[in-house]
Amino acid sequence: MNSVHTLEHLRAAITEARSAGKRIALVPTMGNLHAGHIALIKQAMVRADFVVASIFVNPLQFGPNEDLDSYPRTLAADQEKLLEAGCNLLFNPDAQVMYPNGMAQHTTVSVPGVSAGLCGGSRPGHFDGVATVVCKLLNMVQPDSALFGEKDYQQLAIIRKMVADLNIPVQIIGAPIVRDTDGLALSSRNGYLNAQQRATAPVLQQCMQALKAHIIKGERDYPALFAQFTADLQSAGFRLDYVELRDANSLEAADAESAQLVLLAAAYLGTTRLIDNLIFDL
Ligand code: PAF
Repeated sequence: MNSVHTLEHLRAAITEARSAGKRIALVPTMGNLHAGHIALIKQAMVRADFVVASIFVNPLQFGPNEDLDSYPRTLAADQEKLLEAGCNLLFNPDAQVMYPNGMAQHTTVSVPGVSAGLCGGSRPGHFDGVATVVCKLLNMVQPDSALFGEKDYQQLAIIRKMVADLNIPVQIIGAPIVRDTDGLALSSRNGYLNAQQRATAPVLQQCMQALKAHIIKGERDYPALFAQFTADLQSAGFRLDYVELRDANSLEAADAESAQLVLLAAAYLGTTRLIDNLIFDL
């Protein structure tokens, strides 16, 4: 597997793959790769002959009090995992390559509607940073398909809308959440949890499953159901950020017409913010 850091070298590798008639897939990441990322690489290999992974901890998507500086950077281990998985090319630019004139005056992409509320409500500006960097990566690599995990469900909806609105010729593929054996959704931020918090973390998914079971049984007193959910999480040591039931396709508030629902939640354990979601039919 080759690693390239500049746009020039990336374009040369892409041109070579294209002239050999290869279909290209992109898996954008911020590194600190886990089994969820590797599942994306494996799925990309099924759809494409040339798989590009990008690793870039994008400063534009971090708020001023967020974990940009402490975000885990594990390049050597990531390279080994990508090589072992069968990835063809790693694009690992630095901020100078991505934002040569700095970020302050950089053109940004803002996706209205789906970016509001949920994580967009708690992390102002975050999704503009995500949409901007993903738009740039898609333009840089020009893949046939790009793969993203469904754990970041709102992010995936935003990327789908951006690609549709801006007519970017790429197929966006969402891949199911990969979980640890105890149900915790894999995330690079799980590494921030101490042993006690790590033992508690699966309670988020357990409470979401319990809430889903009530809804499937036909209970519709949502304020009471959400109050119980909040209380259960609090007694386990979490601080709830949000819990919401949305239409799984539009990400608008769920209504009687919604064929598929998604339950989305974010909660803090100490200073670590965990997110998770559950998709289900009624
Ligand atoms: O999900 C992520 O890891 C990031 O938000 C992404 C899509 C790589 C953009 O920086």
